[in-house]
Amino acid sequence: MSETETPLTGGRITPGVVRVGDTVRRPISSDRSSVHRLLAHLEALGFDGVPRFQGVDPQNREILSFLPGEVPRDLDHFSDAQLVSAAGLLRRFHDATAGFELVRQQNAEVMCHNDWGPSNAVFRDGVPYGIIDFDTVTPGPRLWDLGYSAFAWLDLGSPDYTGEEQVRRLAVFADGYGKPDCSAAQVAVYAVARQTALASWARARGDTEMTEWATAAALWTARNVTEQLLPTGYPLGQGVLGVS
Ligand SMILES: Nc1ncnc2c1ncn2[C@@H]1O[C@H](COP(=O)(O)OP(=O)(O)O)[C@@H](O)[C@H]1O
Ligand SMILES: [Mg+2]
Repeated sequence: MSETETPLTGGRITPGVVRVGDTVRRPISSDRSSVHRLLAHLEALGFDGVPRFQGVDPQNREILSFLPGEVPRDLDHFSDAQLVSAAGLLRRFHDATAGFELVRQQNAEVMCHNDWGPSNAVFRDGVPYGIIDFDTVTPGPRLWDLGYSAFAWLDLGSPDYTGEEQVRRLAVFADGYGKPDCSAAQVAVYAVARQTALASWARARGDTEMTEWATAAALWTARNVTEQLLPTGYPLGQGVLGVS
């Protein structure tokens, strides 16, 4: 008798993700071999914050271990402790990917998840401990991933926060990542870059709502966070380069 398939509806991109026993089945629509090799690489290193890749089923779905816990459906408010955990988990993921074949071949820094936000995080006891959804993973710079992650975890651009509070929370996030050359000022610059890139991507897809949201978020972040962390006066940028 075949096992029960329970739809997992938390994501918005991949149709047909289901749970079967202790596994997740995810339809394969493009070449996933590098993702599978990355998950195997992380398993070999004993990195336990991602699902294990267990093969491909007869319906051409990848078989991944199910990470128990809760996955938020949307952006939300996260406490300082949760921000520290989210950033620390990204740091460990990045460090574990630094020796991966694609990173070395492309002379990159790490593998960027490129969508590390609450809706791709598995929480246990209120703490994010698992990273899922590797559809967007590519070799790249740590800061590129940190910029997007800060945007998503802090909800940079939301009028629910003051700029001062977001500057403070960004420092908490950067400290949680814990690499001096990935300072809050640098992450703030990359956050605006990622928000702008998201707006361009949405515009190219004809998604007006997302275009407007991401554009407004970029402007808000630039004015209320990034500019506060840069030295005053033009030319900007000394602080970003680590020279104050
Ligand atoms: N390995 C996993 N462990 C636990 N839950 C998972 C796992 N993979 C996916 N899920 C669940 O399935 C949902 C959709 O998966 P995801 O890979 O994020 O798809 P999408 O591309 O649509 O965002 C997630 O919101 C999560 O609830
Ligand atoms: Mg997802």
